Amino acid sequence: MESLDFHTARALLDWQIELGADECISDAAIDRYALPDRLPKAAVKEAKPHLTKGPVKMEKRDAAAEAQQAAQSATTLEELRQAIDAFDLCDLKRGARNMVFSDGIAGAPVMIIGEAPGREEDRIGKPFVGAAGQLLDRMFGAIGMGRGNADAPIYITNTLPWRPPHNRDPKPEEIAMMKPFLLRHIELADPKVLVVMGNWACQALFAKRGITRLRGHWAEAVDKPALPMCHPAYLLRNPAAKREAWSDLLMLKAAVDK
Ligand code: URA
Repeated sequence: MESLDFHTARALLDWQIELGADECISDAAIDRYALPDRLPKAAVKEAKPHLTKGPVKMEKRDAAAEAQQAAQSATTLEELRQAIDAFDLCDLKRGARNMVFSDGIAGAPVMIIGEAPGREEDRIGKPFVGAAGQLLDRMFGAIGMGRGNADAPIYITNTLPWRPPHNRDPKPEEIAMMKPFLLRHIELADPKVLVVMGNWACQALFAKRGITRLRGHWAEAVDKPALPMCHPAYLLRNPAAKREAWSDLLMLKAAVDK
């Protein structure tokens, strides 16, 4: 193969990772065009004794019950992080590079619930580190709060801990499967108020979508006041909605300072 410059080689690798080929299983590439169409008879015979006769019995697992059990048995945030990491019934886990649990200061009065990790969050393993995250930091900075601000901290997590492929919308069954972990996360972090960002977080916590109607009105989730707000990614696409987001931030600050 002719040699490639660094940037081309890197772009090709990124492309393969996007396609899901993110694991090296052999030192040398296999030329599959050069393989014989059929296996030699001896190899087929060799393989046969391993095949079982009749239908293979698959053990049916109850994902909702397992998620509920794993979430409830966590008694600290660290145990919850480990329980999510060990949970292998959500297909999103297989396509993700990292599990994204939280950022900010646990125990903060404000807990922000986003949607799901995007490309940057998946790469780094922290929520809201891409363009939407930078806007989120500026928004909360404007009311004197921040994920690294010990005097007025915030705590951030997502509805889903793994990136949906190509940033597609979460599926309702993925949200339902991971919901016990989200509810337990809120219980263990025990904030004073929740900020529920965007439609998918509203779907998980209120079983409702329609963020432009829901925003700006206090609701309740896990026995806590919860303020739905437009997601910063939406605000990046619709800058005119920033005016309403500012009014929501002032509402939030008033509730926290009360
Ligand atoms: N959008 C989200 O909802 N969460 C993230 O972590 C990043 C982008």
